Amino acid sequence: MDKKMLCVAVKLVLTGYFGMCVGQSILPPGPLSGAVADSVKFSTNVQPPATPFISVSWSFKGVNIITSTSASNTTRPEYTNRISLERATGGLELRNLVQEDGGEYTVTIVPAEGPQKQGETTLNVYTKITAATIRSPAAVLIEDESSTNLTCEGSGSISSRVWMKDEQPLSPSSRLSFSADNRTVFIQPVDSSSHGPYQCRVSNPVSSMTVVHNLTVNFGPHNISIVGPSAAPPGQRVTLQCTADSVPPANFSWLFNGNETRVDDSMFIIERLNAENTGNYTCSARNMVTRRENSTVLNLRGKELEIMILYIIKSSDG
Ligand SMILES: *[C@@H]1O[C@H](CO)[C@@H](O)[C@H](O)[C@H]1NC(C)=O
Ligand SMILES: *[C@@H]1O[C@H](CO)[C@@H](O)[C@H](O)[C@H]1NC(C)=O
Ligand SMILES: *[C@@H]1O[C@H](CO)[C@@H](O)[C@H](O)[C@H]1NC(C)=O
Ligand SMILES: *[C@@H]1O[C@H](CO)[C@@H](O)[C@H](O)[C@H]1NC(C)=O
Ligand SMILES: *[C@@H]1O[C@H](CO)[C@@H](O)[C@H](O)[C@H]1NC(C)=O
Ligand SMILES: *[C@@H]1O[C@H](CO)[C@@H](O)[C@H](O)[C@H]1NC(C)=O
Ligand SMILES: *[C@@H]1O[C@H](CO)[C@@H](O)[C@H](O)[C@H]1NC(C)=O
Ligand SMILES: *[C@@H]1O[C@H](CO)[C@@H](O)[C@H](O)[C@H]1NC(C)=O
Ligand SMILES: *[C@@H]1O[C@H](CO)[C@@H](O)[C@H](O)[C@H]1NC(C)=O
Repeated sequence: MDKKMLCVAVKLVLTGYFGMCVGQSILPPGPLSGAVADSVKFSTNVQPPATPFISVSWSFKGVNIITSTSASNTTRPEYTNRISLERATGGLELRNLVQEDGGEYTVTIVPAEGPQKQGETTLNVYTKITAATIRSPAAVLIEDESSTNLTCEGSGSISSRVWMKDEQPLSPSSRLSFSADNRTVFIQPVDSSSHGPYQCRVSNPVSSMTVVHNLTVNFGPHNISIVGPSAAPPGQRVTLQCTADSVPPANFSWLFNGNETRVDDSMFIIERLNAENTGNYTCSARNMVTRRENSTVLNLRGKELEIMILYIIKSSDG
């Protein structure tokens, strides 16, 4: 008769009286995870008895691998140098794991007194992940025009892949999707938010590895702005700084009241402000790769003028 069936039957009959099944497993339910070339220990929840067990035996996929009695130990030849039995508790250590060690293990203990104890558990053996890479087709990517994909590969048995961007979990969007196994991220089309570092974390129960790939997306110029005062007193030195979000960095040029005055410098310096150089400063930003251009204007006024106007208003009031 099937052992499990017997246990269930015994359980049904005895639960009411003893509160536990005599055939209850003495091994944790598992599964256990082990790494190729490493060791694994099957520990039982059995307390060492006063009188040693009559016998302890272990089987793998139904085939006996070790039987220990007070008189002798019998070990299957292929296991002699890689198992150790802890006779007091019935625990077993298995060393130099290979992929083929994965499967079901059972232990049977015959104590000096009381019923026989049994346990079964499953061992999964994984190869440690020792290398991981992110691949992406080599191409010049331009926002809103190009599409790309990132593929994460690793050595060993990978059971999970998780993607991050800028240290945040990457989630699907109208532009971004994942293959069913998370191996590949598709970005169709790319935009400025697609630019930057991507992390892929590959893992299995015995190891994990994170790999980084910097994706370059050419975008912009966006968010062009001039940092500088809109008014300053005469004679003062005034610095205007033009900024733009752009990959690669934008090339700048300046117009003063519609006339081109300076090229290829994000900074415009007016050594001494006077009436002739108040007016409209236009900063143009151009991206050499996207071939896009945009501009913004700052109206620079002299402060004196405001005071004068205020004075005129004040005078006419009084
Ligand atoms: C059997 O193996 C156990 C654990 O390694 C050891 O303690 C015991 O002495 C061995 N018994 C015999 C008879 O060799
Ligand atoms: C994305 O990957 C697929 C293969 O999975 C490939 O056929 C396709 O050309 C790739 N797309 C881009 C934009 O690289
Ligand atoms: C794919 O990624 C999602 C989100 O990061 C994660 O919840 C899921 O478990 C992953 N699936 C696989 C097969 O790794
Ligand atoms: C990615 O870019 C950062 C700087 O933004 C740099 O420190 C890092 O080395 C780069 N990583 C790779 C894999 O190119
Ligand atoms: C433009 O500025 C806004 C607001 O600061 C910001 O959210 C956005 O990411 C910027 N765009 C780019 C392309 O950096
Ligand atoms: C544009 O700027 C880049 C660096 O930001 C520089 O190498 C290049 O010479 C500039 N091009 C022009 C036409 O000024
Ligand atoms: C623009 O420059 C031209 C020639 O360099 C000059 O004749 C003209 O007066 C300038 N216009 C303004 C508004 O500064
Ligand atoms: C500056 O620009 C403003 C608004 O576009 C315009 O009203 C003004 O006349 C301009 N000033 C000069 C000196 O061109
Ligand atoms: C230029 O910038 C303005 C303001 O930032 C924006 O509204 C406009 O769409 C931009 N034009 C182009 C062609 O990018």
